Amino acid sequence: MNDPDGYFGEQVAAAYDAETADMSTPEALGPVLDVLAGLAGDGRALEFGVGTGRIAAPLARRGVPVHGIDMSRAMVARIREKEGGEAVGVTVGDFATTRVEGSFSVVYLVFNTIMNLTTQDAQVECFRNAAAHLEPGGCFVIEVGVPGLRLLPPGQTTVPFDVRPDGWAYDVYDVATQAMSSNYVTVGADGRGTFRSIPFRYVWPAELDLMARIAGLRPRDRWEDWTGRPFTSESTRHVSVWERPA
Ligand SMILES: C[S@@+](CC[C@H](N)C(=O)[O-])C[C@H]1O[C@@H](n2cnc3c(N)ncnc32)[C@H](O)[C@@H]1O
Repeated sequence: MNDPDGYFGEQVAAAYDAETADMSTPEALGPVLDVLAGLAGDGRALEFGVGTGRIAAPLARRGVPVHGIDMSRAMVARIREKEGGEAVGVTVGDFATTRVEGSFSVVYLVFNTIMNLTTQDAQVECFRNAAAHLEPGGCFVIEVGVPGLRLLPPGQTTVPFDVRPDGWAYDVYDVATQAMSSNYVTVGADGRGTFRSIPFRYVWPAELDLMARIAGLRPRDRWEDWTGRPFTSESTRHVSVWERPA
């Protein structure tokens, strides 16, 4: 990947808000904003992988001072187009290592974006970076899927997750290295296909807890979703909160 915008270049950025429209309605965002605004309190919020401001802009509209870090100029260019986006501070850089000024009462990293860091070392660095930005008592929040390995019969590496007449999408897992990729084949009106593949590193809830501990954070909450439903053995994703001891 030679594009400085990574896997979220201009073409992806241009389609991003339309493709995430169902996750961006007031009904979908309400519980997310309730949790984040509650943790922010009277302090500031920092979003790692802020993207087009899907969450940062409405959080800013609630009166929370928000800053975002993202490596994609194409994605962050869209923040200003949103109501509230003009109030969001932006730093272009790698959220595993980039420092911004000041301290925050909440740092958050949503929509599986911890998995965009494709090594364990980088994921640990991300926790350290979050902790370094937190005030005592501040919280780091991650929303991410539970690795879908229960869908893999022995010997199989691939799980389709979207099969349509004009395209299909599938995840490929390497259970030895925790490398995975999401792959998209789209067939145009002319019958020709385009292919896009994004590399990830899947990560277990307990492994995240250990990364938090390495970074000096301790577990505070783990839910199945933003409404606080209990996390169980059947949960396919989680929202986890760690806090920096006061
Ligand atoms: C799936 S999008 C999520 C955007 C936004 N948080 C949301 O929920 O809509 C992932 C974002 O993370 C950014 N990103 C991925 N890896 C990154 C890294 N190592 N450093 C900074 N940004 C990164 C991408 O550019 C992209 O904007």
